[in-house]
Amino acid sequence: METPVILKTNIKGKIKEYFAVHVGKLHTDLGIIDLDELRTKSFGDLICSHLGAEFVIQKPKAPDFFKYVKRTGAPMMPKDIGVIISYTGLCSSDHVLDAGTGSGILAIYLGGIAEKVVTYEIREEFMEVARQNFCLAGLSNIELRHGDIAVEIQGLDEKFDVITLDTMDASKAIPHVPGVIYPGGYLAVYSPFFEQAKEVREAIEKTKFTDVTTIETIEREISFTARGTRPSTSRVGHTGFITIARY
Ligand SMILES: C[S@@+](CC[C@H](N)C(=O)[O-])C[C@H]1O[C@@H](n2cnc3c(N)ncnc32)[C@H](O)[C@@H]1O
Repeated sequence: METPVILKTNIKGKIKEYFAVHVGKLHTDLGIIDLDELRTKSFGDLICSHLGAEFVIQKPKAPDFFKYVKRTGAPMMPKDIGVIISYTGLCSSDHVLDAGTGSGILAIYLGGIAEKVVTYEIREEFMEVARQNFCLAGLSNIELRHGDIAVEIQGLDEKFDVITLDTMDASKAIPHVPGVIYPGGYLAVYSPFFEQAKEVREAIEKTKFTDVTTIETIEREISFTARGTRPSTSRVGHTGFITIARY
């Protein structure tokens, strides 16, 4: 798998960007870019289309993978990922257990920080897309495993610092979290609905967790126009509730 780049241009103050993998020709409305030329270039250099449009070459970061890689379903939004990273204090020595993998967006953010991420996906056809996404992100510390987390967690003989669950049936895995989490470790569960969040809280209450909190993050982008400055009228609505618990 070739490595991707972001190609960015500024046309009369308007930014246009492309997510491109280092091979072949990229057809844009500003001309064709010969991506093979990237082999002799570095991040920050310019590359030109056959029509002379100049693009700066940038290194992709996790938000670019959120925006551009193939999806098998709804990935977690950066605002919610940020909450998980900050509330669990995720750090470079951490081992993380994640499920379900989905498109692998949360795992890509986690893998960019933690030492190791083990992620479980129940649907094999989704695993192939996630595998390609991890490869594009250049992350070799993410181990993708097949299986139902509620079952697989019972047979694990590893321990983790942080456990992230983003599956509709997360509450079924929660009773088994104590067997695989280090004392002081964090569990973070994402629930799109109140009903699910309640099931998660009930499962957590039956187990030996402390410091349990469930939150929703509201993101408001500020729009700057000639008419005035205000919160954008086209904003991201509800995504999910995040429950954080410490063991
Ligand atoms: C909402 S998506 C996860 C998105 C992911 N966090 C991301 O950021 O791309 C939920 C995924 O969990 C998988 N899944 C559902 N139940 C599961 C289970 N019990 N064990 C493992 N994976 C499961 C689904 O197939 C789906 O791909």
